[in-house]
Amino acid sequence: MTNNPLSVEDRKIQRGFLWLGICWSAVLLLLALWSGWQTYSATWGSARASAEESLHKDVIYRRWASLHGGIYVPVTGQTPPNPDLADTPERDIVTPSGRLLTLINPAYMNRQAHEIGNKENGSRGHITSLTPLRAANAADAWESQALQSFQRGETDRASLDEIEGQTYFRLMRPLITEPACVKCHAKQGYRVGDVRGGISASIPWKPYQDALRSQLITNLGGSFCIWMLGLVGLRQVRRSLLESLRERQQAQAALQATNAELKATNRQLAESQSQLLQSEKMAAVGQLAAGVAHEINNPIGFVSSNLGSLSRYAKDLLGLVQAYEAQSRERPDVPPGPALQQARAAVDLEFLQEDIPKLLQESVDGLGRVKHIVQGLKDFSRVDSDQWQETDLMAGLESTLNVVRNELKYKAEIVKDYGQLPLVYCNPAQINQVFLNLLMNAVQSIEAHGRITLASGVEAQRVWVSVEDTGAGIAPAHLHRIFEPFFTTKPVGQGTGLGLSITYDIVQQHGGEITVTSEPGRGTRFCVWLPKRNKVD
Ligand SMILES: Nc1ncnc2c1ncn2[C@@H]1O[C@H](COP(=O)(O)OP(=O)(O)O)[C@@H](O)[C@H]1O
Ligand SMILES: [Mg+2]
Repeated sequence: MTNNPLSVEDRKIQRGFLWLGICWSAVLLLLALWSGWQTYSATWGSARASAEESLHKDVIYRRWASLHGGIYVPVTGQTPPNPDLADTPERDIVTPSGRLLTLINPAYMNRQAHEIGNKENGSRGHITSLTPLRAANAADAWESQALQSFQRGETDRASLDEIEGQTYFRLMRPLITEPACVKCHAKQGYRVGDVRGGISASIPWKPYQDALRSQLITNLGGSFCIWMLGLVGLRQVRRSLLESLRERQQAQAALQATNAELKATNRQLAESQSQLLQSEKMAAVGQLAAGVAHEINNPIGFVSSNLGSLSRYAKDLLGLVQAYEAQSRERPDVPPGPALQQARAAVDLEFLQEDIPKLLQESVDGLGRVKHIVQGLKDFSRVDSDQWQETDLMAGLESTLNVVRNELKYKAEIVKDYGQLPLVYCNPAQINQVFLNLLMNAVQSIEAHGRITLASGVEAQRVWVSVEDTGAGIAPAHLHRIFEPFFTTKPVGQGTGLGLSITYDIVQQHGGEITVTSEPGRGTRFCVWLPKRNKVD
């Protein structure tokens, strides 16, 4: 059962689960993509927040410094007086204690703060414009693009960019000219409210990238596990479904088998019942025949022996009468008395002499025929040997023919075409019954007058005996039913429909086969095949 090709139901379930698997995978894939996108957006958002924070602080500090017009710091090697502020009065001052201080403008302050930030955590800040006061403060390529976009009205720009071989998250905002700015930048023609440049913050992307990667890996791993779990679950469900389907199919098959068995048993029962019926009938007929044969045999015995004696006595008597006759012819001088003469005249002696032996011979012949019939009955009934034995099939056929001769006599001419058959080990009473059934069917199929051909032969390991008639034939629609018990096309009283079913059973029990060919209107030929075997086999 398990090796059977998949049933339609099986295939439906397989296909359904394949689709479920595909849908499940698609859903999980979409979820994974969505969650990846979410993670990426969140990372981007947090990088941007941190850059914005930095920008914001830069602007606040710069504003603070601008508000105070710059701040004074001690002059050091790193912070020498600013040559750009050479024109500014009190650029350098000396404290009462003699320390030299120099003025630092907001831009310079920012620059120095950015340098510290860059050293500490790699972040970069830059305040620049398309027309910087200091050439060293010029915008790089990315910043230039951003500044140009601000002039077109954009309010900020953020993207990833490479700086010195490293990836940075860069954010840039325009710087709007405030009153405090004019002090230094008025000579460039800026007025309050103008976009005079931009401030950018660049923070290293690597930490964010690392966090993003590990987050993505975690998410993907989780999705993969859920996906696998789903698939395994589906597989499990599919397997148990298929199993229960298979169990159901098996139960169904078992049920069908039981059903078929029941039907077969039923048929067998009907057959054996009919066979029982028939064999009982046949046994009764056989016993009757055997009894009759036995009873008739006795009188036949003494009648036949009496007839023998009677012939002899008659012969003697007639001889005596003839002697008297001869003597009276030789002695005409001694005439018979009147009574004798009268008696002699009343009898036709010549006729008696001629007819008595004839009558006796006819009676002997008749008795011979009666003996023959009785022998046929005995042979047919086989009361003396109802057992399996090596049998001359042709002798059996002949004895059966004797039994039905009366039926055949006026309806069919019998043609015999017997081959040389070996003795066959079989149950002769049963085989005779087969012949009887076939012969009776053949006779009954002939409407007015026809021919029945009996033939036999040997072929390989089998012998065959056929009964062929020139009768009505069998309609094709009936051909496959004729061996069924109780199937008959004959009117009630004429047919029981049992003959062929019994025949079939007997032939089966003998390990043989029965075949039939028939042509409606032309006739039918039944052929019985029996294995060629002897008792030893
Ligand atoms: N030699 C035959 N010619 C035509 N029909 C036959 C012949 N033998 C059998 N049949 C058909 O097969 C049926 C079944 O035969 P059988 O079992 O002997 O039952 P029955 O003779 O009682 O009808 C017959 O009724 C008849 O229709
Ligand atoms: Mg019959």
